Formats: sequence, C-alpha cells, structure tokens
Amino acid sequence: MRTLSVVTANDQQIPDEVPDEAAAEVAALRGQIEHHNRLYHQLDAPEIPDADYDALVRQLNELEALFPSLVTADSPTQTVGGPRSATFAPVVHRVPMMSLDNAMDRAELQAWGERLERRLVAEEGDDHPQVEFVCELKIDGVAISITYVDGVMVQAATRGDGRVGEDVTENVRSLTGLPDRLTGDVPARIEIRGEVYMPIATFDALNERQEEAGLRRYVNPRNTAAGSLRQKDAAVTASRGLHLWCYQMGELEGGPSFERHADTFDYIASLGLPVNPEIRTLSGLDDVEAFCRHWQEHRHDLPYEIDGVVVKVDDLARRQRLGVTSKAPRWAIAFKFPPEERSTTLIDIEVSIGRTGKATPFAVLDPVFVGGSTVGLATLHNQIQVAAKDVRPGDTVIVRKAGDVIPEVVGPVLAERPDDLPVWTFPTDCPRCGGPLVRLDGEGHHFCTNLDCPAQRTGRIEHFGSRGAMDIEGLGEQRVQLFVDMGLISDIGDLYSFDFDQLLGRDGFGATSVENLRAAIDASRDRPLANLLVGLNIGHLGPTGARALADGLGHLDAIEAASVDEIAAIDGIGPTIAQSVTEFFASERNQVVVAKLRAAGLNLEGPAAPEVPQVLAGMSIVVTGTLEGHSREEAELAITSRGGTSPGSVSKRTTAVVVGEGPGASKLTKATDLGVPILDEAGFEHLLATGELPAAESPAESPPT
Ligand code: IVH
Repeated sequence: MRTLSVVTANDQQIPDEVPDEAAAEVAALRGQIEHHNRLYHQLDAPEIPDADYDALVRQLNELEALFPSLVTADSPTQTVGGPRSATFAPVVHRVPMMSLDNAMDRAELQAWGERLERRLVAEEGDDHPQVEFVCELKIDGVAISITYVDGVMVQAATRGDGRVGEDVTENVRSLTGLPDRLTGDVPARIEIRGEVYMPIATFDALNERQEEAGLRRYVNPRNTAAGSLRQKDAAVTASRGLHLWCYQMGELEGGPSFERHADTFDYIASLGLPVNPEIRTLSGLDDVEAFCRHWQEHRHDLPYEIDGVVVKVDDLARRQRLGVTSKAPRWAIAFKFPPEERSTTLIDIEVSIGRTGKATPFAVLDPVFVGGSTVGLATLHNQIQVAAKDVRPGDTVIVRKAGDVIPEVVGPVLAERPDDLPVWTFPTDCPRCGGPLVRLDGEGHHFCTNLDCPAQRTGRIEHFGSRGAMDIEGLGEQRVQLFVDMGLISDIGDLYSFDFDQLLGRDGFGATSVENLRAAIDASRDRPLANLLVGLNIGHLGPTGARALADGLGHLDAIEAASVDEIAAIDGIGPTIAQSVTEFFASERNQVVVAKLRAAGLNLEGPAAPEVPQVLAGMSIVVTGTLEGHSREEAELAITSRGGTSPGSVSKRTTAVVVGEGPGASKLTKATDLGVPILDEAGFEHLLATGELPAAESPAESPPT
C-alpha cells in the first residue's frame, strides 16, 4: 500500500482536485478495513491487533478529511461494526446502537472538550458552561442489548451493524450476575446496554485447559468472550463464565424519568443488574484527565481487561442538544489507552544458554513500540511454546506487553505468512560451545550438557557472586566474562586465589576499584553456609532448601557425607533435592571446586544465619516482580529465615503477595480475586521488621471522586 503524506486536520488545505493516488489509497484502505471488520465482528477472529486496525481507520479518516469528495455513505468511517452471521436470527434495534469516537491522547480529549464547549455556548448562550462528565471504564468485551418486559428478559442482541444485530437471547441467559427477572421498581419495558466480558482469571483457566488438552491457546479475553457469546450451543456459552457490566439505558417505558445519566445507574443497579463500581461523575476536563491517567496506570489492578475510559456528558437534555453524527454521539468519547498489542516482523529465533545449561529460545523482533516501551527481544521459553504458537522467522507476529509484564509473542498473523515459510526447528548444537543440545524425556527444555560451555561457566560464577548467594559487590556479568576471557578464573573456586594485580591498568580497573573487588571477595569468605549452598548451583536447591539443609546438618562436611535418605529426612527437603545434592557432591569435578573453596577458608558451618526473630512463622508470602532492595533469592531468604514460607504461586493459604516491578499478571489477578493483601516494597520491609501486615489500604491510589 502506498502512503500519502497528509496534512493534519488542523492545518489542512482542501485541494480542488483529487489525485488518482489518493482515490486509490482510499479504496485500498476501505478494502482492508472491511476485511478486518468481517474478521472481528462476524468471525470473532481478528488477524491484527486493535491498534493496527485503529491506525488504518485513522489513515482513511485523514484522507477523507483532506479530500471530502471521496467520502461515501458506506465508507467504514461512516458506519458501525460489520455484517451479521447467518447463525443467529436478526434483531432490528429499536434505537440504533452507535459506536464512539476515539481520543488517542490528552490533546485529542482536550480538543473534544473544546468542540463540545463551543457547541454548548452556541446552543445555550452561556459563555462558560459548566459541564459534568460521567467517566466509565471502557470494558474490553462485546456490546450487548438486553430487553426486559414486565421484568422478564425477553431478548438479547449483539450490536451487529448498529441497526440490526443478532439474537443471542439463549446464550445471554447464562451470564454470571445477570438476572432472568428484574427486582424492585420494575418498568413495563426496558432495554439495557452493556459489555459482556471474560474475567482474566477465567480466560487463564480456559487456556490452561486448552494446553492440557493439547489445543491451541486463545489469544485474548475479548475475542474469547465474543466467540463464547456467539456459540450455536448455548450450553457452551454457559460453560465459559462470561460476565456483564451494564453501562447505558436504551428504551424505557413505564419507569421513572431521569435528567442525569449518573442517576440511571442507581436505578439499573436497583433492578438487580450489574453496574461497574468505578463509575465517577466529575466536573471539568482536568478531573476527567486525572481519572483517565489513573486508570491507564492501574488498568492491570482490575480482574478484567479495559482498553480505555468512556467519557459521557451527564446532563441528558444537553445530550439531546448535542446530537449525533452518522456513527457516534457528540456527547461521548472513548479515551483509548496506548496499545498493549502490536504486530511486527519476527526476524529470527535465537537460543540463549543459562548457568544450568538450559537453552531458552527467544524472538528477535523488528523493534516495535508497545505497552509503553520499545520491544526488540522476547522470550519464547522452550520448544513446546514455539511449537504451540507455531511462530516462524519471517512471520508477522503479534507482540503483547501488558503493563510492566515481560513482553510476549502471542502468535503469528497467519494471513500474512509468506508461502512455504519453513517451520522453525530447535538447533541441535549449543550456540556458545557447539556441544549437543539435548532434551531429556519428560523435560520441557533443551540443555547444553557441556559443563565447560563458556555460557554456563560465566553464568555459574556470576550467580555465585549474586546477592542471594555470596553477595560479592562488583562481580557483575561483564567482569566475570572478562576474567574468564583473560584466563584468570575458570570456576568459582578460582575467585579466592586469582592475581588481582593483573587487572591493574585495564579500563575500569584503577587501584581503588581493584582493591574494592579484592575486599569484596575476601569478605564473602564469612557468608553463612546457606548462602554458600545457594552459590554452588546445586540443581533444584533454592534459598529455602539451602537454609533447611544448613540448619539440618550444620556443616558442609556432613552434607557431603550424607546419604539421599538422610538428606530427604530433613524438614523442608524433598526427595528431588536430596537426590540432586548427593549427585552434586559425588561429581569429581564439583569435588575439585569444593576443595578450592575449603582451602580458601570459607565458612562451612551452619546455622545459615544468625538467629532472626521468627516473626513470619506460619505465614506464606509470595513474591512477584523485581524488588529494588532485594534479589528474588534474597527476598525468599528474608522470608524463610524469619520462619515463613515463600511458594511460587498464590492460593487461599497465601498471607500476602509482595509486588515489585513487572509482576506476574496471573499472580496479581489471583491475589485480587482471592482478596489476598498486596504489598509494595515498603509494606514488605514493614512485614519483615514486625511480622505485621501494613494497615489495610487499596493497592491503587483512589481515583478522583
Ligand atoms: S457507551 C453511544 N460505555 O466500546 C454509546 N461503551 O468503542 C455507546 N464499551 O460499542 C457505548 N465500555 O461496546 C459505552 N462504559 C462503556 C463501555 C462501552 C465498553 C464499548 C462498547 C462500544 C465500544 C465503542
């Protein structure tokens, strides 16, 4: 597609003649938009992320603004939604279901507010009209219209093209929280509009079941909600756990009359219908903007997905005066959040090797701005994931970065896959040492089994010096790599005997810096035994197990000499760790390293740490995301050394979830669903110091009221 450079709407000049390329461009854009409309509205299977679709519509809008003679009544800029499918009977909406205009940033929101004010000044004659706005979350789901006659649900319909929708009455009966019969001051007839959605936890659980059954994962909760709602068999819809928020009253006969939109919500709720609790009435655009900003930052605190905020004029008489365009009301606007999904090219799939030899495939992407940052790399976890997603170098892929969560490749855009694009296969050789990459039976991951692999070697030494292990200040990844390359060290045992003077004069190694490193390595000799055990890189042994082992056997010599059964008998140690520990000490190679550490005079005696008050006894604290003051291992050690446990997942038994940068979305959602307290880093420090949860408060600062 050829792109014309267009002048923005504000400083446009309308030319007399329409160049051929402009007409061709408009036709091409309409073709593409109609194609995507059909996929989205009729098949519930969009190929491209919403943000890419919005960009196409925006391009068309700009061209039509520049060449108004090209605007036609059937242009997608003038119509709503897409065609209906033949599966469901048609329902003519007694009041058309309109769409909303979008504001993509603050400036567009402001411009909408100014246009609104100008119209009100012209209509009402007051130079400074005071406008009240109702701000609602823009739920990312499917629009629905539900009609009750004498309190009984008689019909439910999708939006369709806005004029005629599809009859999905039987499917809608199963929505969680939606009554078949209204309560309270029941009107003769009422039409309610709202958004059907799938809660994130329900979506995750559905995908877990898909994976267990070896089936393809669903892409996102919105498409899944749409697909679930439009099932031929209403029992399938019922099994999908869909919910609803009601956001608008359509027709009303024989009920109370209203002057303000905000008052209709109390009425809707009094009838027993679900109304979102975050709705606020605000005066002036400054507060509206603050509300939008708040939810842009906190959208992931919610157990369902939102993609923006809908801002509506509260005064219903004013709405009448403001009127509608062919497609959308002038009295409302959708403030859209920046996209969390974009499409881009998957340039290649490469493999990185970790300290245990684990080979992790990752996507090399044409960098794309998504979820607030530019993403060029994204992990693909293992071969199973690559195969399940069937992404291939050369594919256009959808990249998702939700909040601070690690970027993810969702899947390929199959419609854009070039013919004969070969399936990606896992490399047979390690990219670092050339040794074989093997996948043992029952293992999801491939491993490089060459213990001399430079990637593993540096990874092990770096881990030894990390904060949760021997905490050696100044022994970061780059330095370890340099020391290995210089031949100064080849394993952790060499750290205590290497010739620091060889570093003097190198870039970044003045006398002070070398002295600091020497002192840091020296100081690490006295670290507790549990830290040393963590630093040894024993498979399956994390900080909790290391502490139990140090406490249980009291000395490295005893641990080395113990049998599998003796180790497995220690409280907190299972058979897998016990097996792994004995295998570690049985290896000649490891015996050589341990001998060097022993000769270097390291502390080999437990207990692992000075006695710490057991203020967390009986508590189960889950940590997710990166904390500023503690590595993950340190945080776990801080918990276990105080008598608590730190499991990897949230359950009913979890006392609190500590949330750092980039937390796991499913842990957060589960914690919110179960009502488990969520702590930030300050709250965690307080808990460690006192054993008490900080005074209850919402994790999110409150939006303006
Ligand atoms: S009001 C004429 N309110 O967003 C007013 N829509 O992009 C029509 N949506 O078709 C809609 N949350 O499916 C409204 N609180 C909310 C909404 C909402 C989600 C959806 C709805 C609509 C689309 C427009």
